[in-house]
Amino acid sequence: EKLTQEIQAATAQSQQELEDFRLKYISRKSVVAELFSGIKDIAPEDKKEFGQKVNGLKNTAQAKFQELIEALESTQGPGKDRPHDLTLPNIPNTLGSVHPITQTREQIIEIFERIGFNVSDGPEIEEDWYNFTSLNFPPNHPAREMQDTFFIQKDPDILLRTHTSNVQTRLMSMEKPPFRSIMPGRVFRNEAISARSHCLFHQVEGLYVDKNVSFADLKNTLYYFAKEMFGHDIKVRFRPSYFPFTEPSAEVDIYWGMETELDRKMTKGTGWLEILGCGMVDPNVLSNCGIDPEEYTGFAFGMGIERIALYKHKIEDIRLFFENDVRFLKQFTALS
Ligand code: PHE
Repeated sequence: EKLTQEIQAATAQSQQELEDFRLKYISRKSVVAELFSGIKDIAPEDKKEFGQKVNGLKNTAQAKFQELIEALESTQGPGKDRPHDLTLPNIPNTLGSVHPITQTREQIIEIFERIGFNVSDGPEIEEDWYNFTSLNFPPNHPAREMQDTFFIQKDPDILLRTHTSNVQTRLMSMEKPPFRSIMPGRVFRNEAISARSHCLFHQVEGLYVDKNVSFADLKNTLYYFAKEMFGHDIKVRFRPSYFPFTEPSAEVDIYWGMETELDRKMTKGTGWLEILGCGMVDPNVLSNCGIDPEEYTGFAFGMGIERIALYKHKIEDIRLFFENDVRFLKQFTALS
């Protein structure tokens, strides 16, 4: 009886007091356990009654213990009776980083937005017309071989776009000039994966169509871009080239240097790197898209984001961008 009252009256203000209660009434060395082991000295006719009483005591102790735990947690919460240890080391907070392709894409967009270009978007699964035919690639023309194409389910009319020029032809077909827009996006080519090419990569293309747009406008826009992207001292050259959808066409190189082994390797011993293709929009392309080439002229350009990022950060292998190894990615944390 006395013990029962004692148990009922017990309180626990701290973890320590809770532990004292447990030791005293519940553990294997508690007074209750002691009473249990004393059962062997009790006269046989009294054993039953004694056993019941001690069992009752045990249940009371356990119920009370549960009650004390809950009471303590509600007033203090776990660990609240201990002061914070300010000397404990912090749990390191690992920050992610923006993927270098995303960073480069955002940088390119920002450079062109500053001179009035907006951003346009279009489908990755495309009709032959917008990806090839309207861009002056006649059916079966060898120029199509420049861009190995993935077709969808053997339908030669539906394909994965090989460049984001499809967004240019859609824009020109669906809206009225003037246009001053860039087209970032994923493109697909059926190419063997190597250090320099991949079957999936990213492009930013650009289109400027208005009255009296000249080759001088094209050159100045791309000089501006190269300087913003690679630094104001960068040397830039235009080299004549060929694309079915532009006339005249050019490729733009930047001078990279020849100092190190890597420079010579990246530039194939020339010191120059090609960064983009460009040209004046072919009059046929304008009329294919319902724009009068007598009234409007324009220029277009296109670049691979991987290649720009590769050159910018002097990375040797394009495949690193797709492996998503954190040891590679975390090197770009400071830039994002
Ligand atoms: N569409 C071309 C390519 O993917 C790039 C380009 C765009 C070239 C516009 C000239 C003008 O290779």
